[in-house]
Amino acid sequence: MTESRLRLGVNIDHVATVRNARGGAYPDPLRAAKLAEAAGADGITAHLREDRRHISDADIEGLAEALSVPLNFEMAATDEMQAIALRHKPHAVCIVPEKREERTTEGGLEVAQDEARLAGFIAPLRDAGCRVSLFIGADRPQIEAAARIGAEVIELHTGAYCDFHAEGRVAACDEELARLRDMSTLATSLGLEVHAGHGLTYDTVQPIAAFPEVRELNIGHFLIGEAIFRGLDPAIREMRRLMDEARA
Ligand code: PXP
Repeated sequence: MTESRLRLGVNIDHVATVRNARGGAYPDPLRAAKLAEAAGADGITAHLREDRRHISDADIEGLAEALSVPLNFEMAATDEMQAIALRHKPHAVCIVPEKREERTTEGGLEVAQDEARLAGFIAPLRDAGCRVSLFIGADRPQIEAAARIGAEVIELHTGAYCDFHAEGRVAACDEELARLRDMSTLATSLGLEVHAGHGLTYDTVQPIAAFPEVRELNIGHFLIGEAIFRGLDPAIREMRRLMDEARA
């Protein structure tokens, strides 16, 4: 694996969504994670939400124990989640904003206005050896604040770009893409590693994968949906192929 290879993190939250629809143990997110590993995922991402609507505490425990690839633990900046992260010490912790009423993570984290609290919040996670990532919009003040508080990674929120694409709003889509590209360059110049994700599909992944500064993509909902039609292994392999093609 070369240094410039773009990593793919597969988010398995929505395997748990389907499981929880019936309240039993099937389908098992850990089984999906192992399958994703075998299909070429470079990491597994799971978001333990405050309301436990998909991933459970037991899922995190199982993933932390059984994965061969790095676990990227997504969580809100709360004391409860910090304690769980410090117990499992995952490879990476991605701090996301979280509102109970939202269907998914709707916006980026407000770092600039919460700088002192977040600096204190991430320090023990870093001390425990976790790579700390902040999920933010393509916004200069947020990126500069992320660098100031000592985050190692930012994950840029690609949701707006994907929404504009889906709505056929070409100019808005191009504008957001340009903002994502410029902010990737800025973040790299400030010493931050750049990841990206949210809402990515086969149709939207390539322009983002082509940014040389972006080192990792985290993709979930589309891949789990596509797995219904073609199976999880081929769904992931096709995403990998498109990423590699864009990178070349
Ligand atoms: N990155 C982060 C930080 C997220 O919160 C999510 C959604 O949980 C994703 C990536 C993946 O988004 P999607 O499921 O839309 O691919």
